[in-house]
Amino acid sequence: MLAVLDERNFPVDRPLLLASERSAELKLSFRGELLPVEPVSAGAFDGIELALFAAGNPVSTRWAPVACAAGARVVDNSSAFRYQDGVPLVVPEVNGQLLDARPPLVANPNCSTIALILALAPLARAAGLERVVVSTYQAVSGAGAEALDELERGVRAGLDRRPPPAADGSPPFAFNVVPRIDRFEDNGYTREEMKIVWESRKILGIPDLAVSATAVRVPVRVGHSAAVTVRLSRPMDPEEARTLWRSFPGVEVVDTPELDRYPMPLEVEGRDAVRVGRTRRDLSDPNGLCFFVASDNLRKGAALNAVQIAEQLCGERAGAR
Ligand SMILES: NC(=O)c1ccc[n+]([C@@H]2O[C@H](COP(=O)([O-])OP(=O)(O)OC[C@H]3O[C@@H](n4cnc5c(N)ncnc54)[C@H](OP(=O)(O)O)[C@@H]3O)[C@@H](O)[C@H]2O)c1
Repeated sequence: MLAVLDERNFPVDRPLLLASERSAELKLSFRGELLPVEPVSAGAFDGIELALFAAGNPVSTRWAPVACAAGARVVDNSSAFRYQDGVPLVVPEVNGQLLDARPPLVANPNCSTIALILALAPLARAAGLERVVVSTYQAVSGAGAEALDELERGVRAGLDRRPPPAADGSPPFAFNVVPRIDRFEDNGYTREEMKIVWESRKILGIPDLAVSATAVRVPVRVGHSAAVTVRLSRPMDPEEARTLWRSFPGVEVVDTPELDRYPMPLEVEGRDAVRVGRTRRDLSDPNGLCFFVASDNLRKGAALNAVQIAEQLCGERAGAR
């Protein structure tokens, strides 16, 4: 988040960094200065204009109302407020107009959903979107810094023996593919899969959109990918889809399979654009189209999207890298 604020010349002199008591000794660098990390507290938000939250649902539920009451605008990365009526859920390139009303609290969508939505929005506008079937291949950094340490330990240990389970007993990330992200819901889907369903409908403004998702964790450090099949209201040639994506902000077409050019996590790390490729007609559906998406889950999937929202809320420009 700090790196993105710096790169985009966000107009802040000295951000106030808040975390828990665990980070009491921590200092983080911003524009050449080492800033202390302070424990969040009741008075911490006094005089703050903008608060970027990235600490999980319980922390957002507890402290976002305190920040709003102190007069700050809040951009929240957690899912605590995403499904509340009246809380805008924003991907600026798609529904950024919701920020014109300067809402006090804006929810930043799920990391896989943001990338998916950038690929879907131009198709939906041009040809009507009826159904989406998506399988994600999600990087371990999406589960936070501790999970990433666990992947690295597991990869080292797994070279000599079966990688150990995670500290909480769940299956290892290393050398594995885990078809569970977040908890299971009563309908057999995981919470992560239902986030994709609910958030796609809300952001695209298509409440009855048919969406079916399978969310999978893969042993990748950074970069979420997804295999997507859509049914449109009319047939669409792959070249028409590529043309639509090329003219849509935040999307980059990487689709020359004969030269091994397609979207991959290793190549999106550190980049802002969501990459789309492997575009082909769905052989099972005349109105269907299949494609593959990859994006940096820590940038467009989290920090970048949050900072773009903040720029619009504060009247700043939304640039691109
Ligand atoms: N990683 C992604 O790709 C991604 C993408 C989109 C959305 N998100 C969402 O963003 C949120 C944060 O995810 P993350 O991956 O950044 O997690 P993370 O790496 O585990 O970081 C969590 C942060 O929250 C702080 N924190 C934890 N408990 C706290 C408390 N009680 N009071 C104050 N601060 C506290 C931690 O500081 P301490 O160490 O001091 O506790 C740490 O700075 C989650 O809701 C996640 O779902 C993540």
